[in-house]
Amino acid sequence: MQITVLTETDQSETRVALTPDVVKKIVNRGINVLIQSGCGQKSNYSDSQYETAGAKVTRTINESALKSEILITVKRPEDKILEKLNKNTIIIGQMDPYGSSSELNRVAKYGHQLFSMELMPRITRAQSMDVLSSQSNLSGYKAVIDSVAEYKKAVPMMMTAAGTIAPAKIFIMGVGVAGLQAIATARRLGGIVTATDVRPATKEQVVSLGAKFIAVEDEEFKAAETSAGYAKEMSKEYQQKQEELLSEHIKNQDIVITTALIPGRKAPILVTKKMVESMKDGSVIVDLATERGGNVEMSQVGKKTLHEGITILGYENFARRLPTDASNLYAQNIMKFLDEIIDVDNQQLSINYEDEIISGILIIKDGVLVHPMYK
Ligand SMILES: NC(=O)c1ccc[n+]([C@@H]2O[C@H](COP(=O)([O-])OP(=O)(O)OC[C@H]3O[C@@H](n4cnc5c(N)ncnc54)[C@H](O)[C@@H]3O)[C@@H](O)[C@H]2O)c1
Repeated sequence: MQITVLTETDQSETRVALTPDVVKKIVNRGINVLIQSGCGQKSNYSDSQYETAGAKVTRTINESALKSEILITVKRPEDKILEKLNKNTIIIGQMDPYGSSSELNRVAKYGHQLFSMELMPRITRAQSMDVLSSQSNLSGYKAVIDSVAEYKKAVPMMMTAAGTIAPAKIFIMGVGVAGLQAIATARRLGGIVTATDVRPATKEQVVSLGAKFIAVEDEEFKAAETSAGYAKEMSKEYQQKQEELLSEHIKNQDIVITTALIPGRKAPILVTKKMVESMKDGSVIVDLATERGGNVEMSQVGKKTLHEGITILGYENFARRLPTDASNLYAQNIMKFLDEIIDVDNQQLSINYEDEIISGILIIKDGVLVHPMYK
Protein backbone atom coordinates (compact mmCIF):
# COMPACT_ATOMS: atom_id res chain seq x y z
CA MET A 1 0.00 0.00 0.00
CA GLN A 2 1.12 3.52 -0.65
CA ILE A 3 0.04 6.96 0.60
CA THR A 4 0.93 10.22 -1.17
CA VAL A 5 1.20 13.75 0.19
CA LEU A 6 1.57 16.61 -2.28
CA THR A 7 2.40 20.28 -1.74
CA GLU A 8 -0.83 22.19 -1.15
CA THR A 9 -1.70 24.19 -4.28
CA ASP A 10 -3.33 27.07 -2.39
CA GLN A 11 -0.43 29.51 -1.90
CA SER A 12 -1.88 30.83 1.37
CA GLU A 13 -1.95 27.34 2.90
CA THR A 14 1.00 26.93 5.25
CA ARG A 15 0.14 23.49 6.61
CA VAL A 16 1.12 20.05 5.36
CA ALA A 17 -1.11 16.99 5.68
CA LEU A 18 1.45 14.57 7.18
CA THR A 19 4.41 15.42 9.40
CA PRO A 20 7.58 13.33 9.82
CA ASP A 21 6.49 11.92 13.22
CA VAL A 22 3.27 10.61 11.72
CA VAL A 23 5.00 9.36 8.57
CA LYS A 24 7.21 7.26 10.81
CA LYS A 25 4.16 5.66 12.44
CA ILE A 26 2.63 4.88 9.04
CA VAL A 27 5.88 3.41 7.69
CA ASN A 28 6.13 1.26 10.83
CA ARG A 29 2.78 -0.24 9.82
CA GLY A 30 4.43 -1.45 6.59
CA ILE A 31 2.86 1.23 4.37
CA ASN A 32 4.91 3.26 1.89
CA VAL A 33 4.68 7.04 2.05
CA LEU A 34 5.54 9.24 -0.91
CA ILE A 35 6.09 12.93 -0.22
CA GLN A 36 6.44 15.73 -2.75
CA SER A 37 9.71 17.58 -2.13
CA GLY A 38 9.21 20.83 -0.23
CA CYS A 39 5.64 20.10 0.88
CA GLY A 40 6.55 20.63 4.55
CA GLN A 41 8.71 23.70 4.01
CA LYS A 42 6.18 26.33 5.15
CA SER A 43 5.53 24.42 8.36
CA ASN A 44 9.24 23.80 9.08
CA TYR A 45 9.40 20.12 8.11
CA SER A 46 12.31 19.42 5.75
CA ASP A 47 12.67 16.76 3.07
CA SER A 48 15.46 15.17 5.07
CA GLN A 49 13.20 14.83 8.14
CA TYR A 50 10.67 13.00 5.97
CA GLU A 51 13.40 10.77 4.55
CA THR A 52 14.68 9.96 8.03
CA ALA A 53 11.10 9.05 8.99
CA GLY A 54 11.07 6.53 6.14
CA ALA A 55 9.24 8.39 3.37
CA LYS A 56 10.31 8.48 -0.26
CA VAL A 57 10.68 12.09 -1.38
CA THR A 58 9.87 12.83 -5.01
CA ARG A 59 10.70 16.04 -6.88
CA THR A 60 7.95 15.73 -9.47
CA ILE A 61 4.36 14.56 -9.27
CA ASN A 62 5.25 11.41 -11.20
CA GLU A 63 3.31 8.30 -12.09
CA SER A 64 4.27 6.57 -8.87
CA ALA A 65 2.90 9.44 -6.76
CA LEU A 66 -0.38 9.34 -8.64
CA LYS A 67 -0.99 5.61 -8.35
CA SER A 68 -1.16 5.50 -4.53
CA GLU A 69 -4.28 4.03 -2.97
CA ILE A 70 -4.57 7.06 -0.69
CA LEU A 71 -3.92 10.80 -1.14
CA ILE A 72 -3.88 12.92 2.00
CA THR A 73 -4.35 16.67 1.77
CA VAL A 74 -5.14 19.68 3.91
CA LYS A 75 -7.53 21.23 1.34
CA ARG A 76 -9.48 19.68 -1.53
CA PRO A 77 -7.05 18.98 -4.43
CA GLU A 78 -7.46 20.84 -7.70
CA ASP A 79 -8.92 19.23 -10.81
CA LYS A 80 -5.52 19.03 -12.50
CA ILE A 81 -4.46 16.56 -9.77
CA LEU A 82 -7.81 14.75 -9.49
CA GLU A 83 -7.89 13.98 -13.21
CA LYS A 84 -4.47 12.32 -13.13
CA LEU A 85 -5.03 10.05 -10.12
CA ASN A 86 -5.91 6.37 -10.49
CA LYS A 87 -9.68 5.94 -10.48
CA ASN A 88 -11.15 5.23 -7.04
CA THR A 89 -8.27 6.82 -5.10
CA ILE A 90 -9.15 7.48 -1.45
CA ILE A 91 -8.74 11.21 -0.82
CA ILE A 92 -8.74 12.38 2.78
CA GLY A 93 -8.70 16.06 3.75
CA GLN A 94 -10.81 19.13 4.42
CA MET A 95 -13.08 19.09 1.36
CA ASP A 96 -15.11 22.21 2.17
CA PRO A 97 -18.37 20.24 2.04
CA TYR A 98 -20.83 23.06 2.81
CA GLY A 99 -22.45 25.11 0.10
CA SER A 100 -20.30 23.84 -2.72
CA SER A 101 -22.38 20.97 -4.10
CA SER A 102 -22.08 22.14 -7.73
CA GLU A 103 -18.28 22.08 -7.46
CA LEU A 104 -18.41 18.75 -5.68
CA ASN A 105 -20.64 17.30 -8.41
CA ARG A 106 -17.90 18.17 -10.89
CA VAL A 107 -15.27 16.60 -8.62
CA ALA A 108 -17.40 13.44 -8.30
CA LYS A 109 -17.00 12.77 -12.02
CA TYR A 110 -13.36 11.80 -11.48
CA GLY A 111 -14.55 8.66 -9.69
CA HIS A 112 -12.59 8.91 -6.43
CA GLN A 113 -13.73 8.47 -2.83
CA LEU A 114 -13.59 11.74 -0.88
CA PHE A 115 -13.55 11.82 2.91
CA SER A 116 -14.21 15.25 4.40
CA MET A 117 -12.60 15.48 7.84
CA GLU A 118 -14.64 18.56 8.84
CA LEU A 119 -17.72 16.31 9.06
CA MET A 120 -16.24 14.01 11.70
CA PRO A 121 -19.10 13.10 14.09
CA ARG A 122 -18.76 14.63 17.57
CA ILE A 123 -18.79 11.22 19.32
CA THR A 124 -16.31 10.04 21.92
CA ARG A 125 -14.72 7.43 19.61
CA ALA A 126 -14.01 10.11 17.00
CA GLN A 127 -12.49 12.73 19.30
CA SER A 128 -8.93 11.90 18.29
CA MET A 129 -9.85 12.40 14.61
CA ASP A 130 -11.63 15.74 15.09
CA VAL A 131 -9.72 18.21 12.91
CA LEU A 132 -12.14 21.05 13.65
CA SER A 133 -11.26 20.79 17.33
CA SER A 134 -7.52 20.42 16.87
CA GLN A 135 -7.37 23.42 14.54
CA SER A 136 -9.90 25.57 16.43
CA ASN A 137 -8.01 25.13 19.66
CA LEU A 138 -4.86 26.58 18.07
CA SER A 139 -6.90 29.33 16.37
CA GLY A 140 -8.35 30.44 19.70
CA TYR A 141 -4.88 30.66 21.23
CA LYS A 142 -3.33 32.47 18.26
CA ALA A 143 -6.21 34.95 18.00
CA VAL A 144 -5.46 36.17 21.53
CA ILE A 145 -1.70 36.27 20.92
CA ASP A 146 -2.15 38.26 17.68
CA SER A 147 -4.63 40.65 19.29
CA VAL A 148 -2.23 41.34 22.13
CA ALA A 149 0.58 41.97 19.61
CA GLU A 150 -1.62 44.68 18.01
CA TYR A 151 -2.71 46.14 21.35
CA LYS A 152 -0.43 48.98 22.34
CA LYS A 153 -0.75 48.42 26.09
CA ALA A 154 0.14 45.68 28.56
CA VAL A 155 -2.47 43.03 29.37
CA PRO A 156 -1.90 42.22 33.08
CA MET A 157 -2.26 44.66 35.92
CA MET A 158 1.15 46.04 36.88
CA MET A 159 1.73 47.95 40.10
CA THR A 160 5.03 49.75 39.77
CA ALA A 161 6.79 52.59 41.59
CA ALA A 162 5.98 54.78 38.57
CA GLY A 163 2.28 53.99 38.73
CA THR A 164 -0.30 51.30 38.08
CA ILE A 165 -1.23 49.81 34.74
CA ALA A 166 -4.85 48.65 34.58
CA PRO A 167 -5.46 45.12 33.25
CA ALA A 168 -6.90 44.75 29.76
CA LYS A 169 -10.57 43.77 29.42
CA ILE A 170 -10.91 40.89 26.97
CA PHE A 171 -14.29 39.69 25.70
CA ILE A 172 -14.69 36.31 23.97
CA MET A 173 -17.84 35.83 21.86
CA GLY A 174 -18.71 32.19 21.16
CA VAL A 175 -17.48 29.56 23.59
CA GLY A 176 -16.82 26.48 21.45
CA VAL A 177 -13.38 24.92 21.19
CA ALA A 178 -11.72 28.11 19.90
CA GLY A 179 -13.51 30.32 22.42
CA LEU A 180 -12.55 28.14 25.39
CA GLN A 181 -8.88 28.23 24.40
CA ALA A 182 -9.13 31.99 23.85
CA ILE A 183 -10.53 32.43 27.37
CA ALA A 184 -7.78 30.26 28.87
CA THR A 185 -5.07 32.14 26.95
CA ALA A 186 -6.45 35.57 27.85
CA ARG A 187 -6.61 34.54 31.51
CA ARG A 188 -3.01 33.26 31.44
CA LEU A 189 -1.93 36.66 30.14
CA GLY A 190 -3.66 38.34 33.05
CA GLY A 191 -6.63 39.95 31.32
CA ILE A 192 -10.05 40.51 32.89
CA VAL A 193 -12.03 38.06 30.79
CA THR A 194 -15.74 37.90 30.00
CA ALA A 195 -17.43 35.61 27.49
CA THR A 196 -20.79 35.03 25.84
CA ASP A 197 -22.58 32.22 24.01
CA VAL A 198 -26.13 31.16 23.25
CA ARG A 199 -25.69 27.59 24.56
CA PRO A 200 -26.47 27.36 28.32
CA ALA A 201 -23.88 24.60 28.83
CA THR A 202 -21.10 27.10 28.17
CA LYS A 203 -21.90 29.16 31.26
CA GLU A 204 -20.35 26.66 33.63
CA GLN A 205 -17.32 26.21 31.35
CA VAL A 206 -16.70 29.95 31.24
CA VAL A 207 -16.92 30.27 35.01
CA SER A 208 -14.66 27.25 35.57
CA LEU A 209 -11.96 29.03 33.53
CA GLY A 210 -12.18 32.04 35.82
CA ALA A 211 -14.09 34.29 33.42
CA LYS A 212 -17.49 35.97 33.76
CA PHE A 213 -20.45 34.84 31.63
CA ILE A 214 -22.64 37.43 29.93
CA ALA A 215 -25.73 36.49 27.91
CA VAL A 216 -29.44 37.01 27.43
CA GLU A 217 -30.63 34.00 29.45
CA ASP A 218 -34.29 33.80 28.34
CA GLU A 219 -36.46 30.79 27.34
CA GLU A 220 -34.95 30.69 23.83
CA PHE A 221 -31.45 30.57 25.32
CA LYS A 222 -32.44 27.57 27.44
CA ALA A 223 -33.26 25.60 24.25
CA ALA A 224 -30.51 26.95 22.00
CA GLU A 225 -28.40 23.79 21.84
CA THR A 226 -29.16 21.11 19.21
CA SER A 227 -28.93 17.41 20.05
CA ALA A 228 -25.57 17.42 18.22
CA GLY A 229 -24.25 19.97 20.73
CA TYR A 230 -24.25 22.93 18.33
CA ALA A 231 -25.96 26.31 18.53
CA LYS A 232 -29.26 26.96 16.74
CA GLU A 233 -29.77 30.05 14.64
CA MET A 234 -31.40 32.52 17.03
CA SER A 235 -34.63 34.46 16.31
CA LYS A 236 -34.64 38.14 15.31
CA GLU A 237 -36.12 38.99 18.76
CA TYR A 238 -33.27 37.23 20.54
CA GLN A 239 -30.69 38.88 18.31
CA GLN A 240 -32.18 42.26 19.16
CA LYS A 241 -31.98 41.61 22.93
CA GLN A 242 -28.46 40.23 22.52
CA GLU A 243 -27.38 43.33 20.60
CA GLU A 244 -28.69 45.63 23.33
CA LEU A 245 -26.87 43.75 26.08
CA LEU A 246 -23.63 43.38 24.15
CA SER A 247 -23.54 47.00 22.97
CA GLU A 248 -23.30 48.15 26.57
CA HIS A 249 -20.59 45.62 27.35
CA ILE A 250 -18.43 46.00 24.25
CA LYS A 251 -17.88 49.72 24.59
CA ASN A 252 -15.84 49.07 27.74
CA GLN A 253 -13.70 46.27 26.26
CA ASP A 254 -10.10 46.57 25.06
CA ILE A 255 -9.94 43.35 23.07
CA VAL A 256 -12.82 41.38 21.52
CA ILE A 257 -12.38 37.93 19.98
CA THR A 258 -15.35 36.52 18.03
CA THR A 259 -15.66 32.81 17.27
CA ALA A 260 -19.42 32.20 16.78
CA LEU A 261 -20.46 29.66 14.15
CA ILE A 262 -23.54 27.65 13.22
CA PRO A 263 -22.70 24.53 11.20
CA GLY A 264 -23.56 24.83 7.51
CA ARG A 265 -24.82 28.42 7.83
CA LYS A 266 -23.48 31.91 7.54
CA ALA A 267 -21.86 33.11 10.77
CA PRO A 268 -24.10 35.40 12.87
CA ILE A 269 -23.21 39.11 12.97
CA LEU A 270 -22.51 39.88 16.62
CA VAL A 271 -20.50 43.11 16.41
CA THR A 272 -22.09 45.92 14.41
CA LYS A 273 -20.35 49.01 12.99
CA LYS A 274 -21.95 51.07 15.78
CA MET A 275 -20.47 48.75 18.42
CA VAL A 276 -17.01 49.01 16.81
CA GLU A 277 -17.26 52.79 16.83
CA SER A 278 -18.28 52.79 20.50
CA MET A 279 -14.94 51.24 21.51
CA LYS A 280 -11.93 53.21 22.74
CA ASP A 281 -9.08 54.12 20.38
CA GLY A 282 -6.43 51.41 20.38
CA SER A 283 -8.91 48.58 20.97
CA VAL A 284 -8.47 45.41 18.94
CA ILE A 285 -11.08 43.04 17.48
CA VAL A 286 -10.29 39.61 16.04
CA ASP A 287 -12.95 37.95 13.87
CA LEU A 288 -12.31 34.21 13.65
CA ALA A 289 -15.41 33.67 11.52
CA THR A 290 -14.52 35.74 8.42
CA GLU A 291 -14.27 32.67 6.19
CA ARG A 292 -17.92 31.93 6.97
CA GLY A 293 -19.18 35.48 6.52
CA GLY A 294 -17.80 37.02 9.71
CA ASN A 295 -19.16 37.93 13.17
CA VAL A 296 -18.01 41.55 12.85
CA GLU A 297 -19.83 43.76 10.39
CA MET A 298 -16.67 45.55 9.33
CA SER A 299 -14.11 42.77 9.22
CA GLN A 300 -12.55 41.91 5.88
CA VAL A 301 -11.54 38.41 4.88
CA GLY A 302 -7.79 37.91 5.10
CA LYS A 303 -7.13 41.53 6.12
CA LYS A 304 -6.16 43.80 8.97
CA THR A 305 -8.25 46.97 8.91
CA LEU A 306 -8.16 50.12 10.97
CA HIS A 307 -11.45 51.91 11.59
CA GLU A 308 -11.53 55.07 13.72
CA GLY A 309 -8.62 53.87 15.82
CA ILE A 310 -9.89 50.30 16.21
CA THR A 311 -7.83 47.50 14.66
CA ILE A 312 -9.83 44.59 13.21
CA LEU A 313 -8.06 41.36 12.27
CA GLY A 314 -9.96 39.22 9.77
CA TYR A 315 -7.26 36.73 8.85
CA GLU A 316 -8.75 33.66 7.24
CA ASN A 317 -7.44 30.82 9.32
CA PHE A 318 -5.54 31.42 12.53
CA ALA A 319 -4.40 27.78 12.79
CA ARG A 320 -2.42 28.38 9.61
CA ARG A 321 -0.48 31.02 11.53
CA LEU A 322 0.95 28.24 13.71
CA PRO A 323 1.68 25.80 10.88
CA THR A 324 4.15 23.55 12.71
CA ASP A 325 1.73 22.63 15.50
CA ALA A 326 -1.36 22.82 13.30
CA SER A 327 0.13 20.36 10.78
CA ASN A 328 1.27 18.06 13.52
CA LEU A 329 -2.15 17.86 15.21
CA TYR A 330 -3.88 17.54 11.83
CA ALA A 331 -1.57 14.69 10.85
CA GLN A 332 -2.25 12.93 14.19
CA ASN A 333 -6.01 13.22 13.47
CA ILE A 334 -5.44 11.71 10.02
CA MET A 335 -3.34 8.87 11.46
CA LYS A 336 -6.19 7.82 13.74
CA PHE A 337 -8.57 7.82 10.79
CA LEU A 338 -6.15 5.73 8.69
CA ASP A 339 -6.24 3.13 11.46
CA GLU A 340 -10.03 2.94 10.90
CA ILE A 341 -9.74 2.14 7.19
CA ILE A 342 -6.55 0.10 6.81
CA ASP A 343 -6.18 -3.55 7.70
CA VAL A 344 -2.48 -3.46 8.59
CA ASP A 345 -2.10 -7.26 8.97
CA ASN A 346 -3.27 -7.89 5.42
CA GLN A 347 -1.87 -4.64 4.01
CA GLN A 348 -5.16 -3.65 2.42
CA LEU A 349 -8.00 -1.19 2.71
CA SER A 350 -10.85 -2.34 4.90
CA ILE A 351 -13.66 0.21 4.87
CA ASN A 352 -16.90 -0.52 6.70
CA TYR A 353 -19.35 1.81 4.95
CA GLU A 354 -21.97 1.13 7.64
CA ASP A 355 -19.73 2.59 10.34
CA GLU A 356 -20.86 5.92 11.83
CA ILE A 357 -17.48 7.58 11.28
CA ILE A 358 -17.11 6.40 7.67
CA SER A 359 -20.68 7.29 6.65
CA GLY A 360 -20.39 10.56 8.56
CA ILE A 361 -17.47 11.88 6.54
CA LEU A 362 -17.67 10.08 3.16
CA ILE A 363 -19.02 12.68 0.73
CA ILE A 364 -18.27 11.19 -2.71
CA LYS A 365 -18.25 7.56 -3.87
CA ASP A 366 -18.81 5.87 -7.24
CA GLY A 367 -19.12 9.22 -9.01
CA VAL A 368 -21.91 10.64 -6.84
CA LEU A 369 -22.37 12.78 -3.72
CA VAL A 370 -23.38 10.18 -1.15
CA HIS A 371 -23.49 12.15 2.10
CA PRO A 372 -27.02 12.55 3.56
CA MET A 373 -26.63 16.35 3.61
CA TYR A 374 -26.79 16.38 -0.20
CA LYS A 375 -30.02 14.33 -0.36
N1 LIG B 1 -15.84 15.05 19.94
C1 LIG B 1 -16.62 15.78 20.72
O1 LIG B 1 -17.38 15.27 21.51
C2 LIG B 1 -16.59 17.26 20.54
C3 LIG B 1 -15.49 17.86 19.98
C4 LIG B 1 -15.46 19.25 19.81
C5 LIG B 1 -16.56 20.01 20.19
N2 LIG B 1 -17.62 19.40 20.74
C6 LIG B 1 -18.79 20.19 21.14
O2 LIG B 1 -19.38 20.74 19.97
C7 LIG B 1 -20.00 21.96 20.32
C8 LIG B 1 -19.61 23.09 19.37
O3 LIG B 1 -18.21 23.40 19.48
P1 LIG B 1 -17.43 24.08 18.29
O4 LIG B 1 -16.16 24.61 18.78
O5 LIG B 1 -17.38 23.18 17.12
O6 LIG B 1 -18.43 25.29 17.97
P2 LIG B 1 -18.60 26.13 16.64
O7 LIG B 1 -17.28 26.38 16.04
O8 LIG B 1 -19.67 25.53 15.79
O9 LIG B 1 -19.21 27.51 17.21
C9 LIG B 1 -18.50 28.27 18.15
C10 LIG B 1 -19.41 28.74 19.24
O10 LIG B 1 -20.24 29.81 18.77
C11 LIG B 1 -21.46 29.75 19.50
N3 LIG B 1 -22.49 30.56 18.86
C12 LIG B 1 -23.23 30.28 17.75
N4 LIG B 1 -24.10 31.28 17.51
C13 LIG B 1 -23.91 32.22 18.47
C14 LIG B 1 -24.50 33.49 18.75
N5 LIG B 1 -25.47 34.00 17.99
N6 LIG B 1 -24.06 34.18 19.81
C15 LIG B 1 -23.07 33.69 20.60
N7 LIG B 1 -22.47 32.50 20.38
C16 LIG B 1 -22.88 31.78 19.33
C17 LIG B 1 -21.74 28.26 19.54
O11 LIG B 1 -22.66 27.93 20.54
C18 LIG B 1 -20.36 27.69 19.81
O12 LIG B 1 -20.11 27.53 21.19
C19 LIG B 1 -19.65 22.20 21.76
O13 LIG B 1 -20.69 21.66 22.54
C20 LIG B 1 -18.41 21.38 21.96
O14 LIG B 1 -18.20 21.01 23.30
C21 LIG B 1 -17.66 18.03 20.92
